[in-house]
Amino acid sequence: MKELLRELRGRALSAIEKAENAEALEALRVQYLGKKGELTAVLKQMGKLSAEERPVMGQLANELRSAVEKTLEQRRTALAEALLQRRLRDEAVDVTIPGEPHRMGHRHPMYAVLDEIKQIFIGMGFEILDGPEVEQSVYNFDKLNTDEGHPAREWSDTFYFAEDSSRLLRTQTSPMQIHAMETRPLPIRMVAPGRVYRKDEVDATHSPMFHQVEGMVIDKGVTMADLKGTLDQVAKRLYGEGTVTRFRPHHFPFTEPSCEMDIQCYKCHGAGCPTCKGEGWIELLGAGMIHPRVLRMSGIDPDVYSGWAFGFGLERMAMGRFKIGDLRLIFENDVRFLEQF
Ligand code: PHE
Repeated sequence: MKELLRELRGRALSAIEKAENAEALEALRVQYLGKKGELTAVLKQMGKLSAEERPVMGQLANELRSAVEKTLEQRRTALAEALLQRRLRDEAVDVTIPGEPHRMGHRHPMYAVLDEIKQIFIGMGFEILDGPEVEQSVYNFDKLNTDEGHPAREWSDTFYFAEDSSRLLRTQTSPMQIHAMETRPLPIRMVAPGRVYRKDEVDATHSPMFHQVEGMVIDKGVTMADLKGTLDQVAKRLYGEGTVTRFRPHHFPFTEPSCEMDIQCYKCHGAGCPTCKGEGWIELLGAGMIHPRVLRMSGIDPDVYSGWAFGFGLERMAMGRFKIGDLRLIFENDVRFLEQF
């Protein structure tokens, strides 16, 4: 039996020394010390020994057990240490290597202008509204006094969804006037910026998608003087205190009377130059007093309430502000372009 224990000891300790990982160690522990392990099997034969031999063998067996346990523990520690060293080596980061510079994004000039516009109107007590780009024709046209047969409803100009032409991509932000009338308590002072869509080929001044900013006021006793005073003030805030505005008669189906507002050319102050194409004036927006029929269709009594509205193209506004010559630059989002503003 002594021989057996010695043999077992040699085999167990050398196997443990060679174990490559924690799983192998655990398997060896079970193999030698486990309930069905080899040492246990030897101990079970102790009963066959004489009374003198038994304590001697018992002591040898105990020594073997503690030697195996100690070796297991040492190997476990050594393996863990080796693993740690390997990870420290593999995952080492040289913090002195220079970093890769990140190219910073840049605020888009059009949104910078939009933010300014919003701030001006918020300061005047307007709220900012958002609405659907996929619109019902009723909102884009009918409720804006633009009946069937009106040239603005042409298939060649408008992105319709269905053959029955009941749904479309809005061609203007003016449907937001109707949404506001239908959902907001009176009086209303709102500005609604957003995307609009028209079947235009892309060139330096056209894009099938562009942005408009709609604005509307409805209250008791609102007049054309309020329209002119407010929009004149906005132009001065945007283009400088010295800005001169003029209002020309125009036509829109949903306003009566209608007008367009120009600002005197900020480059030549009216003399005529390339910026204003020799006109001396730069067209800024369309506006007008809301047509009584439009008010009535949305449940507002035109004998009690009156209002005005305006709409303008945001890209054109930004291009004017930053002297950008080509509309396509606005949409390309080339950082080298954006960085200039
Ligand atoms: N919706 C008009 C356009 O797209 C602009 C406009 C808005 C005119 C509000 C009058 C009042 O040209």
